[in-house]
Amino acid sequence: MIYSSITGTGGYLPERIMENAELEQMVNTSDEWIKSRTGVVKRHIAAEGETTCDLAEHAAHKAMKAASASSDDIDLIIVATTTPDLIFPSTACLLQHRLGIRGTAAFDVQAVCTGFIYALAIADKFIKTGSTKKALVVGAETLSRIIDWTDRDTCVLFGDGAGAVILEASETPGIVSTFLHADGQYKDLLKVPSGISTDCTKIKDGNAFIQMQGNEVFKVAVNTLGRIVDETLSANNLKKKDIDWLVPHQANTRIISATAKKLDMPMDKVILTVDQHGNTSAASVPLALDVAIRDGRIQRGDKLLLEAFGGGFTWGSALIDY
Ligand code: ACO
Repeated sequence: MIYSSITGTGGYLPERIMENAELEQMVNTSDEWIKSRTGVVKRHIAAEGETTCDLAEHAAHKAMKAASASSDDIDLIIVATTTPDLIFPSTACLLQHRLGIRGTAAFDVQAVCTGFIYALAIADKFIKTGSTKKALVVGAETLSRIIDWTDRDTCVLFGDGAGAVILEASETPGIVSTFLHADGQYKDLLKVPSGISTDCTKIKDGNAFIQMQGNEVFKVAVNTLGRIVDETLSANNLKKKDIDWLVPHQANTRIISATAKKLDMPMDKVILTVDQHGNTSAASVPLALDVAIRDGRIQRGDKLLLEAFGGGFTWGSALIDY
């Protein structure tokens, strides 16, 4: 049996930091409201002209260095993003070219905030079939480009960034299980209501923005993430206490603490970056993973539960023996 395991991680955040105080000047909000309702203290915003592929490239280089992987070694590239540089070619193809790689499969995955979990699950399956030996899996976003900076309901939540992992064939797990789900009946609760074949003038004019019914999203997210914890533990015959670290999608500290409670897990066993990064959508889980590996909290041999929930709705988990 072939398994896949993470041999390197990398993360990148744009230089520009936007603190809550700056948002107080833009919309009718307060630092106190943002911190207490979301946990966000600051977020990073891509510079003008800085693209999702730029962020992805930085994160990819760091992950490759950590895994001692060269461009010649990579035989699959998957980029999870909702904010690609172009309609096509895919951001994965642009990244492949930047990294000097030719001929490997390279494609994007669009599952909004669950995108990285989807991409990781796909790469894991490629490796398990024997068709891939070393995959570069990236979550990268410039969400600031699809935010209405006059809408206080959404503009306080999001940030830009990228996270990456190298996933390699291995004789032992690695990735123990992945679960992916979606339910399109919730399509209207969280969306950008324009696209190439719908109202595309908004895209051309730069007026395609995230719309969210935050309260409704919140309720479904808490229930769904609780269910995915149960699904993952029961499928792997694990008890709550077997999980060493929860690495959740960084949407909101209140959603994250509800999931931790479901696991009877103290918050010091939960990787939290939403305060520093905001919600970076597909980048949030690999960024949080990279932070906790680099600062030494996550150690080899630890059992990790990665989970995410996002637009679609989509949701998923990855259980990892790191
Ligand atoms: N500053 C000040 N007041 C605000 C702000 C703001 N930025 N935004 C909303 N308010 C007001 C509202 O207008 C409302 O006022 P009212 O009572 O006078 O009507 C009040 O605050 C409470 O609003 P709620 O929406 O009930 O606040 P809630 O506690 O639900 O928090 C939040 C809102 C933070 C958006 C929360 O609902 C949330 O986190 N939802 C989930 C977001 C999420 O998980 N998204 C999923 C992934 S994202 C993706 O996939 C791209």
